[in-house]
Amino acid sequence: MRVLSGMRPTGKLHLGHYFGVIKNWIKLQEQHETFYMVADWHALTTGYKKTEEIPQNTEEMLIDWLTLGIDPQKSVLFQQSKVKEHAELFLIFSMITPKSWLEWNPTYKDTKYNLLKIADLSLMFKGGIRDNLKTFIAKLPYKVEDFERLEDMLLDNLSDALIEALFEGYLDKELLKELNVSKREFYDTDTYGFLGYPVLQAVDILIYKAQGVPVGEDQLPHVELSREIARRFNNLYGDTFPEPQALLTETPRLPGTDGRKMSKSYNNAIYFADSNQEVQRKVMGFFTDPQKLRKGDPGRPEICPVFFYHKLFSPKERIQEVERDCKSGKLGCVDCKRMMLEGLEAFLEPLREKRKEYEKDREKVREILRGGSQRARDIAQQTLQEVREKVKVG
Ligand code: TRP
Ligand code: SF4
Repeated sequence: MRVLSGMRPTGKLHLGHYFGVIKNWIKLQEQHETFYMVADWHALTTGYKKTEEIPQNTEEMLIDWLTLGIDPQKSVLFQQSKVKEHAELFLIFSMITPKSWLEWNPTYKDTKYNLLKIADLSLMFKGGIRDNLKTFIAKLPYKVEDFERLEDMLLDNLSDALIEALFEGYLDKELLKELNVSKREFYDTDTYGFLGYPVLQAVDILIYKAQGVPVGEDQLPHVELSREIARRFNNLYGDTFPEPQALLTETPRLPGTDGRKMSKSYNNAIYFADSNQEVQRKVMGFFTDPQKLRKGDPGRPEICPVFFYHKLFSPKERIQEVERDCKSGKLGCVDCKRMMLEGLEAFLEPLREKRKEYEKDREKVREILRGGSQRARDIAQQTLQEVREKVKVG
C-alpha cells in the first residue's frame, strides 16, 4: 500500500511528536511504500505574515525525522513547495470542490464562528453607541466639516478598541475562552487559502494516489474530504484517483511538564534538541501529585505525569518499585524524578548524538530533501499528465 502523511514545519520536534506521530511513521515504512512530506505551503495558510523561519524550521524538522529513525532509503522525504504540480492540481480541485464542503469543515467552522461572533459584538456595540456619539459630536465646540465621516471613524476606532479589549481579556474572560483563538490567529485566518486548506491536503494525498493516510483524529474530516474530491473527480472525468483511507493511530496523550498535553504552545515540551541540562531542569520542574507535599506523604502515581514517564522509560522492576513506594509515601518526588530522568536520558542521549551528526552535515540533509522531492515530482508529473488529458485542459 502507498502511504502518505505530512507535517507543517513549525520548528523542532518534541517527545509528543514522537509518541503521537513519528513512531507510527517509522513502523509504517517497514511494510509500506511511504511518503513523508514537509507541508511548507500549508505553513503559509496561518503563518503567511511571518515566513522567515519556515526554511530553518523545515531543515530542523527533517533533522528530527532522520534522528528518530525515518529512513530516506525506505521513505520518500520531500518538500511540498518543491513539487509545483501540487499547485496545478490544487487549481483543478478548487474548480470542482463545492464551497459548502469546505464551509462544513470543523476547523473552518470553528474559526468562522469566532469571526461571526466578533462581528456581532462589533455591530451591537456600534448600534448602542451611535446615538450618544451624535449628541456628543453635536456638542463639540468646533465646526464639524464632515459629520458622517467623523462618526464612522470614531465608531470604527471604538469597535477596534473593543475587540482589542476582548483579546486582552478586559472584556469577558469566558467569551475569550469560548473563542479560543489568539488575536493574530483570528485576523490572519480570514482568507481564501485557509478555507481551501483541505483542498491542498487532498492534493497532497491524491497526487501520489496514496491509499493510506496516517493521521490523528483531528485530521479525519480532511481525509474524508479527500475521498469526496477523489469521487467527484472520478465521476466527472473518469476513474483516476483511489479513495484514500485514514490510518488512525491510537496515541497516548503524552503529558508535558505541567501535566497538560505536551504542546509547543503550552511551553511544556521536552525537545530532542534540548541539552541534558535543559532536560534535567524540565524534569525537576515537573508537575506531580499536588496532594503529595513532602516525602512521607502517600502519592497517587496514576495521576502523576512523572509516573507516566516511568512507564515509558524505566525498567519493569523500577516501575513497580516506584508505584509501590510512591503510594506508601516512602519515595519522595525529588528522588522519583531523578530516577525518571535516568531512563529518559538513556533514551534521549543517543538521539542527541545522532542529531549532532546531522547538524554537522546540513548539506547531506538538504540533499536528502532534494532527492526525495525529485522522486515525488516524477510521480506527481505522471499524475498531472493523466489529469490534463482527462480534463482536456492544460
Ligand atoms: N494538515 C496536516 C496537519 O496539520 C498536515 C498535512 C498536510 C497532511 N498535508 C497532509 C497530513 C497530507 C496528511 C496528509 O497535521
Ligand atoms: Fe509522582 Fe513520583 Fe512524586 Fe509519586 S513520588 S507523586 S510518582 S513524582
